[in-house]
Amino acid sequence: MSKMSRVRRRLPRLTGRQAAVLTVTGVLCTGTAAAALLGHPRIATTLLALLGGVIVAGVLLLFRRLATVQRAGVSAQRDLRTTVEEMQRRLVAAVERERLTAGDRHLELAEAIARVKQVTDRKAASSQLLALPREFEATVQLFQSFTPRAPMPSSGDFALNPTDLLELLHLIRTRKPRLVLELGSGTSSVWIAYVLEQTGGRLISLDHDAGYAGRTRTALAVHGLDTIAEVRDAALTPVGIDGRDYPWYDPEALADLHDIDFVLIDGPPASTGADARYPALHMIEKRLADRATIVFDDAGRPDEQAAMAAWTERFDGLTREGELLGRHAVLAFARPPALAAAFA
Ligand SMILES: C[S@@+](CC[C@H](N)C(=O)[O-])C[C@H]1O[C@@H](n2cnc3c(N)ncnc32)[C@H](O)[C@@H]1O
Repeated sequence: MSKMSRVRRRLPRLTGRQAAVLTVTGVLCTGTAAAALLGHPRIATTLLALLGGVIVAGVLLLFRRLATVQRAGVSAQRDLRTTVEEMQRRLVAAVERERLTAGDRHLELAEAIARVKQVTDRKAASSQLLALPREFEATVQLFQSFTPRAPMPSSGDFALNPTDLLELLHLIRTRKPRLVLELGSGTSSVWIAYVLEQTGGRLISLDHDAGYAGRTRTALAVHGLDTIAEVRDAALTPVGIDGRDYPWYDPEALADLHDIDFVLIDGPPASTGADARYPALHMIEKRLADRATIVFDDAGRPDEQAAMAAWTERFDGLTREGELLGRHAVLAFARPPALAAAFA
């Protein structure tokens, strides 16, 4: 590549008109200089005037060009703003559409949940209605066996249902235990005490809640059963089983008991912690008579199912008897002869 063409490449690209103006300016400058040097002042002045005219025309052209560029810039800016605003509008519309769709979905979901709740509520209500004749029959049978000396406290809810009570009292009446231990006092304590009054026997009932223990004591006294049944305050304390602590009745409340031949496990309530009733058998096994009956309430719940599975595996001589009524499980305990001999 020649030196000339290299210089031409480095120069900024000129339009035809710019090149022509540059050439004319160059010629006029050269002509003015030559005329002045050769002593032709008139020609030099004429050429200088022409040069001035060319410069003025060039400046005017430049201003026009700049004005055009500025107008183009303003128009490009306006276009850009319009495009950005349009995009913003589309974005807001899309977000709004999504929001409305999500709102619709939320509404549909809430309606579906409400429908499911209605159905389950209706099912629960209808299962309670279906249970009414059963509970009514049980109530009639309960009151046929004796006449209470004062109004009986209510059954159901936290207390055993009439159907639960009916089988429980039947077991006590037929097996005639000498010492009944009840975990969780209440209405059941009064019913049990009435049966034990007929069959001969004693009831010890533990309650973790001093308030409910007091209420049961009052009920027993009103019915004249306080010589048959005793309610003991037994606050929940940690008891260790296989390296885990469970809140359970203070073992001190059991310390003087032995040969217990009937147990009702109806506490502590599930609200006191997971596996709330699991410690029961571990804590009372050595205080049981060689043969005992254990009624375990709420046996259908997962924690109670797990407790029963673990107990029957752990304690030899513990079997499930089967039940006639109610929500409880009836377990039979028969201490294996070798262990019974060691206890004797
Ligand atoms: C399942 S309840 C025991 C009920 C008792 N075995 C009966 O059938 O009447 C277990 C414990 O819950 C507490 N309790 C009793 N009635 C209650 C109630 N209405 N609300 C909350 N807790 C109650 C008492 O401390 C009781 O020992």
